[in-house]
Amino acid sequence: MVKKRIYATRSLPGLEEWARQNGQYDVQWNKESRDLTAQELRDHAKDTDLLITMLSDQINQAFLSDNQHLLGVSNYAVGVNNIDLNEATRLGIPIGHTPNVLTEATAETALTLLLMCSRKIKKATSWVEKGHWTTWEPQIFNGQSLHGKTVGIIGFGRIGQSFARKVYQLWKCHILVYERESAKRNECDFPFQVVSPSEFHKKCDVISLHCPLTPETKGLINEDFINKMERPFILINTARGACHIEKDLYQGLKSEKILSVGLDVTEPEPMAKNSPLLKKEDCIVLPHIGSATQETREKMTTMCLENLVAALERRPLPYAVVDPFKS
Ligand code: NAP
Ligand code: GLV
Ligand code: GLV
Repeated sequence: MVKKRIYATRSLPGLEEWARQNGQYDVQWNKESRDLTAQELRDHAKDTDLLITMLSDQINQAFLSDNQHLLGVSNYAVGVNNIDLNEATRLGIPIGHTPNVLTEATAETALTLLLMCSRKIKKATSWVEKGHWTTWEPQIFNGQSLHGKTVGIIGFGRIGQSFARKVYQLWKCHILVYERESAKRNECDFPFQVVSPSEFHKKCDVISLHCPLTPETKGLINEDFINKMERPFILINTARGACHIEKDLYQGLKSEKILSVGLDVTEPEPMAKNSPLLKKEDCIVLPHIGSATQETREKMTTMCLENLVAALERRPLPYAVVDPFKS
């Protein structure tokens, strides 16, 4: 029998080992430490049955309609804004992703950024590294305490709730959730309030983004949003870079409407090397490492493979976004 082919667009932790133990599949992957070009992606897709994609691969309408032979695609991420889900649904191509397993790791990344922002860590470490530390200083690097502060969450799902729980448990923060009409109501083991955008603008000391990138959230943190904020605030974005407008963040920092910015995600990625934000000591940028713990990344590999094996067997995917087999 001809082996079914699985192709991963990057090398993944645990993939080689899985391939060895599951010799009934022909498993291949991109051996280089770079993304495939769009043409290379198309060439590999033509020669495979099942695909593991990265969030940096554009699985758009044209790609899917040219690759209708694909039996399943699993994104090595929870966010699926790089995939045209409507087209996949129309074509009946199953799409999987990796929810839950990266929730804690990503919430920890947001928390790391929040602490670094509130205590001016970038500024303080670079000062030490430049050799400026001569004595104990009473008046420089004084940041903000997080205790009892009001933390606004945009995107109160798995990661948003995990982050909110942490800041509540650590610092008794007041949690405000950005209201929207279609929101599902969540049960939670800590107190929070769903508030209107105007209440949100009035009360938040910190805003953390945990929403998916959609037409509604694209460019949400822009000049208008920043100007509506009534107190200086810290902005954390571990969701998607396109949810903020970079030049508006820069202006917000300059005008001191924003105290500090912590980004794990930018638009584009990588961030432009000459971005003025990179020169600002009140802005910390991480290279999209939200889920980057060894244990999480290994589990993400397994989840993608479980999705693809289910798709191949025409069973419901265990971690599905588009599932033609779900009854
Ligand atoms: P999730 O459980 O689906 O949570 C997303 C939440 O956002 C849901 O509660 C959703 O509400 C809400 N939402 C959707 N549109 C909104 C809007 N316009 N305004 C306010 N809230 C909105 O997903 P998750 O697992 O927490 O992941 C969230 C996102 O984080 C992913 O989509 C991904 O982009 C990003 N992420 C980044 C990293 C990283 O490495 N930095 C890692 C993992 C995830 P409904 O359910 O009512 O639609
Ligand atoms: C990472 O950004 C993810 O969506 O998993
Ligand atoms: C600081 O180190 C202090 O003792 O207050």
